[in-house]
Amino acid sequence: MLANRLLMMLLLIVVALTGCVSGGEEPTVSVASGNLILNENHADGGAWGLPDCDACHALSAIHKKADLIRNITKDKGYDTCAGCHGSNGTSIARRCIICHNTADLPTAPRQQGRFSHHYTSDVAGSMDDAHCLSCHDASDMDGRFELNQDLKHYPDQNQLLTNYSSLSDFCLRCHNRDHQQPGYEITDTDFYDPLIAIEEAFTYVDKHGAIDGLGTRTYAGLRGDYRYASEVPCTDCHAMHGTENGGLVLDSTATGFSLLNETQTYDVITNGPDYTQLCVVCHLMETILEDGATDSGNGLSGVHQVGGDCYVCHSHGEPVQAGM
Ligand code: HEC
Ligand code: HEC
Ligand code: HEC
Ligand code: HEC
Ligand code: HEC
Ligand code: HEC
Ligand code: HEC
Ligand code: HEC
Repeated sequence: MLANRLLMMLLLIVVALTGCVSGGEEPTVSVASGNLILNENHADGGAWGLPDCDACHALSAIHKKADLIRNITKDKGYDTCAGCHGSNGTSIARRCIICHNTADLPTAPRQQGRFSHHYTSDVAGSMDDAHCLSCHDASDMDGRFELNQDLKHYPDQNQLLTNYSSLSDFCLRCHNRDHQQPGYEITDTDFYDPLIAIEEAFTYVDKHGAIDGLGTRTYAGLRGDYRYASEVPCTDCHAMHGTENGGLVLDSTATGFSLLNETQTYDVITNGPDYTQLCVVCHLMETILEDGATDSGNGLSGVHQVGGDCYVCHSHGEPVQAGM
């Protein structure tokens, strides 16, 4: 028995190191399928549960068809394997920041700034690998962000694993009053706190959510490909991976703002309830009124009340006033 087992292991090692497989079976893992996570069929089951990838896979023999990740994986070595391929039925750590850091992959994602979505509101701090996994558990890392491939699947209000219809749909599976996710409960908050009220606000009241076709606009005008009567995803105003602004408001047009189409980068600095520099990134005035010509401080102009308190009239869930 033992001899058989050893022979099997040896065979596996030879196959893995040379990359020669006899059968014409479809691989479980491939760029084409979008699945990188190993399952119990790993080498017909013989390699499932084994933690030492280096015992069988030589770095020089793998990833011949995966140009985008081949070199960085070779550089960083065996500590990376579980990040992309899952833990292989073991408890080996799934690491992300080993590659996704400001030195190695500075724009994927952009992580500059004191605040990030690490599940503790308004406390500065960066994320660790576990945080990445809470939003991305099986990314295909093909260089394209795909809504239903690259985000972790959380159940909807009916506890079904339905596809996400938008980026906002993803956020709202946690940010709601009555169908939060186990392990990520949001408690001790006011009924109207956007942390839990945003699902309702975004659907019924918010100007950037469900479309209100009747607006007679006093300050009309939008930049880039932004259009009236369209939804604005949460991540066009909120940064998940890093920002200097409280409330996770984006701090630069270098990330987020998906429809802006500007080659130049503008800073976005909020100052308490003064969001002038955020609003002016997407809004402008076709007909200049009030402060419409005043520079908001980042080189852009085109909103009223520049430098004032916007929150009194524009906040999430504002039922009667101008809204947000
Ligand atoms: C005992 C040897 C052995 C060990 C240990 C081992 N593998 Fe494998 N693995 C194989 C063999 C054999 C194959 C099938 C031939 C091939 O594709 O190289 C394979 C296939 C794979 C595949 C392709 C799977 C598919 O079906 O498309 C991946 C990805 C992989 N291994 C990753 C890993 C990782 C990550 C580890 C460490 C957690 C690991 N392997 C540990 C032997 C091993
Ligand atoms: C950044 C993500 C990433 C990391 C990290 C990674 N892989 Fe892969 N791996 C892939 C992708 C993508 C494929 C599919 C390539 C294809 O379509 O042929 C793959 C395929 C494989 C395969 C099967 C076919 C092939 O290309 O050789 C093996 C074996 C494998 N990986 C082993 C490893 C081992 C061992 C490590 C750790 C040293 C590792 N991988 C780390 C992304 C990754
Ligand atoms: C709270 C959820 C959340 C967390 C935590 C999170 N991400 Fe993301 N990530 C997203 C969303 C949503 C997108 C797509 C929209 C965007 O880019 O903001 C995204 C996009 C990305 C992208 C695509 C490039 C880009 O900037 O658009 C990469 C790469 C990425 N995340 C890696 C990571 C890594 C690495 C971590 C851990 C350090 C992490 N993410 C933590 C939600 C999250
Ligand atoms: C070996 C390095 C490496 C490791 C480890 C790694 N990634 Fe990646 N990842 C990449 C590369 C390279 C890209 C493609 C970046 C680009 O060119 O846009 C990528 C892309 C992504 C994307 C963007 C969507 C896509 O399909 O391209 C997400 C999300 C992501 N990785 C999340 C993670 C998470 C979460 C982990 C840990 C579980 C992780 N990565 C581990 C190298 C790595
Ligand atoms: C897995 C559940 C989960 C997902 C998915 C999620 N969040 Fe959160 N979010 C939380 C929790 C938990 C907190 C912390 C709440 C608290 O402080 O009690 C939080 C906090 C926040 C905060 C306040 C942070 C601060 O520092 O003030 C914002 C803003 C936020 N999330 C926006 C988003 C957006 C936008 C998305 C989608 C791209 C998203 N969240 C996705 C669970 C989630
Ligand atoms: C038009 C821009 C915009 C859009 C779109 C947007 N937000 Fe906000 N959000 C803001 C601003 C500005 C604030 C106030 C930030 C502060 O608290 O200082 C805020 C506040 C919040 C807060 C409270 C943060 C805290 O610290 O308590 C949460 C939670 C939140 N938003 C979640 C979301 C979610 C989820 C979505 C998508 C469904 C979304 N937002 C869409 C601009 C936006
Ligand atoms: C990422 C781009 C973006 C940002 C940033 C942004 N908006 Fe908007 N805004 C839009 C789009 C697109 C619409 C059109 C939505 C619609 O018609 O349903 C809109 C619509 C509005 C409306 C409704 C206009 C009307 O009369 O119907 C108000 C009010 C508004 N925004 C205020 C703000 C305020 C205040 C801020 C800053 C806190 C802000 N916006 C930031 C893109 C943005
Ligand atoms: C006294 C209340 C009040 C204050 C304070 C206020 N606004 Fe407004 N704002 C409004 C009203 C009313 C509208 C028109 C809403 C509509 O057309 O539906 C509006 C509309 C807007 C719009 C949407 C323009 C469009 O496309 O129709 C933007 C952007 C905006 N305000 C930015 C700001 C900024 C930035 C601040 C703070 C510096 C601010 N507002 C402060 C009441 C206010």
